[in-house]
Amino acid sequence: MTVGFSGAVAEYYAEFRRGYPPQVFDALADAFGLSQADVVLDVGCGTGQLALPFASRVRAVIGMDPEPDMLRLARYAAEAQGVRNVTWVLGADTDLPALGGLLGERSSALMVVGQALHWMRHDELFRAAAPLLRTGGGIAVISNGTPLWLQDSPWSRALRGCLEDWMGTPLTMTCGTSSRDRLRYAEALRSAGFDGVREMAVEYRGELSFDELFGGVCSAISADRLPGPDERGALAERIRQALPTGEPFTETVRVTMLVGQIQADAEA
Ligand SMILES: C[S@@+](CC[C@H](N)C(=O)[O-])C[C@H]1O[C@@H](n2cnc3c(N)ncnc32)[C@H](O)[C@@H]1O
Repeated sequence: MTVGFSGAVAEYYAEFRRGYPPQVFDALADAFGLSQADVVLDVGCGTGQLALPFASRVRAVIGMDPEPDMLRLARYAAEAQGVRNVTWVLGADTDLPALGGLLGERSSALMVVGQALHWMRHDELFRAAAPLLRTGGGIAVISNGTPLWLQDSPWSRALRGCLEDWMGTPLTMTCGTSSRDRLRYAEALRSAGFDGVREMAVEYRGELSFDELFGGVCSAISADRLPGPDERGALAERIRQALPTGEPFTETVRVTMLVGQIQADAEA
């Protein structure tokens, strides 16, 4: 279990974290030639932001995550949406080899990791995934925009200042979204034998109400630091006072997909 995403944080994640727009799934289906015969692995699936939209495009999806509360909410969402072809597995990146033993070599088309690779041993994960993926399939490392408090806008700068003040520490963590991280991940994909490593992107403008913004912030605070329900209102008020007046808060969301593919001769 990861402490970070348990309890109320998981609830905020399920309710307020942005999902991914359809163009992301179109681009990945195209890049990896996905069909109804395929299996997709989603490692660090959270509450199903990637696993659930993939379900209608392929035969089966496996959503794996070490946090039971995230998986529980992912399962609820699947039930609510009538999705029946996702198997939810309690496990971390280090459990992929064991899962692979069950699935077998070349059994899957695509492994996706959305906003979660920074928690993992990515070199080992990429190497463990390679034998499980079919020709033309591969890996997509996906980031869902820039954290709310690190954007280039007045409201984001105000949010950052307020949160740093509240936490008493500078907020520099980019959660694997920085260009430096992407370069490291690209290099690791090549070292693990993936070909055609490149970045694709989908960009759109989004709007957030204050409640959505506050929910997004709470979904990113570690569960052991999130104020209890009685004190959460005070944090909300503190943030509201710090932000420029006037909703909605607009952001440019750039979803990046770092992809690497299995070529035919990699199977030899
Ligand atoms: C920020 S959420 C991402 C959820 C979803 N993939 C998305 O794109 O929104 C990160 C997830 O990674 C999971 N996680 C943390 N450490 C992990 C690990 N070592 N292996 C797999 N998942 C992990 C957390 O439990 C959490 O659900």
